[in-house]
Amino acid sequence: MVISVPFPPQAVSLSDKPDIMPAAIQTPSLQRVEFTDFEKVVAAIEKDGAVILQNFTTPEVVERVNDEVKSYLDADKPWKGKLFPPETRRCTRLVGRSDTVRQEWIGSDKLFGILDHFLSKTTRIFYDDVPTVHTTRPILSTASTIDVRAGAAGQRLHRDDKVHHFDHLDTIKTGYIRSVDVSMSLLVPGVQSTEENGATLVIPGSHLWGDERAPKRTEAVQACMVPGEALLFLGSFYHAGGANRTADQNRPVHGLFFCGGTHRAEENVYMEFDNEQVKTWSEKEQSRMGYATSSPNLGFVDFVSPMHIINGTYDPNHLV
Ligand SMILES: [Fe+2]
Repeated sequence: MVISVPFPPQAVSLSDKPDIMPAAIQTPSLQRVEFTDFEKVVAAIEKDGAVILQNFTTPEVVERVNDEVKSYLDADKPWKGKLFPPETRRCTRLVGRSDTVRQEWIGSDKLFGILDHFLSKTTRIFYDDVPTVHTTRPILSTASTIDVRAGAAGQRLHRDDKVHHFDHLDTIKTGYIRSVDVSMSLLVPGVQSTEENGATLVIPGSHLWGDERAPKRTEAVQACMVPGEALLFLGSFYHAGGANRTADQNRPVHGLFFCGGTHRAEENVYMEFDNEQVKTWSEKEQSRMGYATSSPNLGFVDFVSPMHIINGTYDPNHLV
């Protein structure tokens, strides 16, 4: 059974009123917090693993982004592999195709203030006996719009930090431990998301679970949102895109995914060598230079392995 987050928006953390809610009917759910209230946003994420940001942006800005990606969504073809249901359409390379996403959201210092809090890392390093201090800051990992159209199946419950093979300790007893996360995800709905059109399934508190615990559908609630709101969550937080059970509604969602600044190779070979040169290398050499995707789903171009694109072996009928 999937239990819905109350809608319209309200602060829905029932743990705020433990004395009046019988334990048997308490349902964990996400809090709605004003985007500008940094302390409350951080506290909500530490407690639940995720938060719904009120007034993250405006409906007008969302509509502008919707307009900028529309031609790319309309030109996209049904996916033939397992990664997406055929009823979905994609606009990849989002920060280049939507100036608004790049300027308004990637350019948001408020957003990066929150990301910095969870993903930045400062380390003391000795050079001989001289201590120096260095800070690495988060970067965009990937961004795309996925239009989940009528009839599309939902995702399986998963953690986004799976791509970085993150090890999760059980921290239910200790509570959240800062600086252990490697990624965060931001989902900005392009239209009002509802239970019927597939609002994201979420499991509040699942960021504290160890790797041995499997998520269950019965533990999930749906994070329904209106345009202008956004769902921000840690990479360790279990969630899934919901099934679009409507007959005629499109549910575009603009997804921005961030990772710690160290999650890249030391040398940026992708700027140093052009594809024609790389094409002359053996597949073993290409793979060892980072041109093959890392399983699962890391290092792709338009969700395809760079090696297939460079070598001309891209086959849309044999996608994973
Ligand atoms: Fe995800």
